[in-house]
Amino acid sequence: MTAPGTDRPRPVFARCYARISEGMDAEGLGALRTELLSPLSGRVVEVGCGNGRNLARYPPVVTGVTAVEPEPHLRRLATRAAAGAPVPVTVVPGTAEALPLPDGGVDAAVLCLVLCSLPDRPAALAELRRVLRPGGTLVFLEHTLGRTRRLRAVQRVADATLWPLLAGGCHTTTDAVGLLQEAGFRITALRRLRFPDTRVTLPATPHVLGTAVSPA
Ligand SMILES: C[S@@+](CC[C@H](N)C(=O)[O-])C[C@H]1O[C@@H](n2cnc3c(N)ncnc32)[C@H](O)[C@@H]1O
Repeated sequence: MTAPGTDRPRPVFARCYARISEGMDAEGLGALRTELLSPLSGRVVEVGCGNGRNLARYPPVVTGVTAVEPEPHLRRLATRAAAGAPVPVTVVPGTAEALPLPDGGVDAAVLCLVLCSLPDRPAALAELRRVLRPGGTLVFLEHTLGRTRRLRAVQRVADATLWPLLAGGCHTTTDAVGLLQEAGFRITALRRLRFPDTRVTLPATPHVLGTAVSPA
């Protein structure tokens, strides 16, 4: 399916991410993905599903997933992954800022390693609130702002130089939890973690994994 106006081709990043994401999942990200998706049930939207690394991990109480992805190569790979998913998945073109879903159309939403790449995060979160039913669940696994001044300084330098170019528009200084709260979501579970948990801390090492509720 094509949708002129919603495609965001990043062919080099897409091909690199498709390879790198397999390795990251083997190094522990896969287990975090399973943990992320475990609270979900009913109708779900996954925003920026990439090559579909989450799709095999949805619990059977999920009745359907709309997986939105604007990058054409990643969307093709996600469509392939959807065929092997344990729950019905429809992969569609679209952006977080204009989701192809009706108001209150889903029970739950997934943000996985995507907030940092969005050009307009407040608009995307307002859009998520629109499509989530009141009281609906948002689960998130995002890398986030470091907790020390030193790491934040490193992140600022990374964001101002090569990082966004190499990592598909990612900005490591994104304060995921702060953005969710500013958008009106109530955080109900939150775990801070390091990924990858190696001796060297990279700009994208600090992560948050949690659950939030859309206001009723
Ligand atoms: C780091 S990848 C993560 C992919 C996937 N969520 C995962 O967990 O592997 C970031 C994703 O965000 C997508 N993206 C970038 N801008 C977007 C936008 N405006 N709306 C929705 N997705 C977007 C990219 O195409 C890419 O698939």
